[in-house]
Amino acid sequence: MAKLAVITGASSGIGASFARQLAARGYDLLLVARREDKLRTLAAELAAVQVEIVVADLASDSGREQIAQRIRGAANLHLLVNNAGFGSVGLFHQATLRIQDEMHRLHVLTTLALSHAAMENLLAAPPTQGRGIINVSSVASFGQSPSNVSYCATKAWMTSFTQGLAIELASQNSPVKVQALCPGFTYSEFHDRIHMSRDPIPKQLWMTADFVVAHSLRAYDRGQIVVIPGWRYKVIVAFMRAMPFSVMKSIATFAARKYRKPVST
Ligand SMILES: NC(=O)c1ccc[n+]([C@@H]2O[C@H](COP(=O)([O-])OP(=O)(O)OC[C@H]3O[C@@H](n4cnc5c(N)ncnc54)[C@H](OP(=O)(O)O)[C@@H]3O)[C@@H](O)[C@H]2O)c1
Repeated sequence: MAKLAVITGASSGIGASFARQLAARGYDLLLVARREDKLRTLAAELAAVQVEIVVADLASDSGREQIAQRIRGAANLHLLVNNAGFGSVGLFHQATLRIQDEMHRLHVLTTLALSHAAMENLLAAPPTQGRGIINVSSVASFGQSPSNVSYCATKAWMTSFTQGLAIELASQNSPVKVQALCPGFTYSEFHDRIHMSRDPIPKQLWMTADFVVAHSLRAYDRGQIVVIPGWRYKVIVAFMRAMPFSVMKSIATFAARKYRKPVST
């Protein structure tokens, strides 16, 4: 029986690239998203491996529980990629509570529930190398910026949660791996969905989804826990992590006033 990878948000961008690259590595796939047509097209493209698609809204309790149950019962579960996510526009009080509630449900509660289901499964199986979870977080998890408050906060939770799991697994000598993938600006549908122009962002800061995912999977093979694709972002994050909050606040305020546009990564 082939190894199974479950990928949420597989209908476009980073999730679709995970599907293609994991299929090339011989994984069978369970792909989850809301847009059935996109999932079907991708499944047809990846016909060399077994692909199951499940149409579910992972921000809903029923959608989350449906996929959690499927993960708990998957005999050959090898990898879960918690990738489904989205950005929003507007200052905290301007962006609707509904959209920010949905974001917290998707980034936090769904990552929590699917990770719990996957850990039950992975830790009950005979210990084999390479099993684990990749949580797609963001460089935004290391800071804060205006018009991005809930996004940065939920991604910070994802990175912290993953680091917590890594420490717990190490304390148990478990071979199960976890990774927080923290990309910067990546070409996908992410910015189109929130009608954000890519123009103000320097070209050098954009990466392809294929580059990000190839970086993630190589790092996963090595067992790296917090993964930041691209040398420019490694430098930026090193500064973000080292700088006092007051300095980060000044820089984020200056950038927001200069560009006067919401910036999400
Ligand atoms: N692009 C960037 O610059 C960037 C940078 C850092 C981190 N990220 C993170 O990378 C992840 C993937 O984003 P992307 O850049 O690849 O954007 P994308 O092309 O917009 O893909 C987002 C995926 O999430 C799915 N999704 C959204 N809401 C969902 C819901 N309620 N239920 C189920 N699926 C849902 C979408 O599918 P459906 O619409 O078909 O449901 C789609 O497959 C996100 O977590 C994002 O925060 C992106």
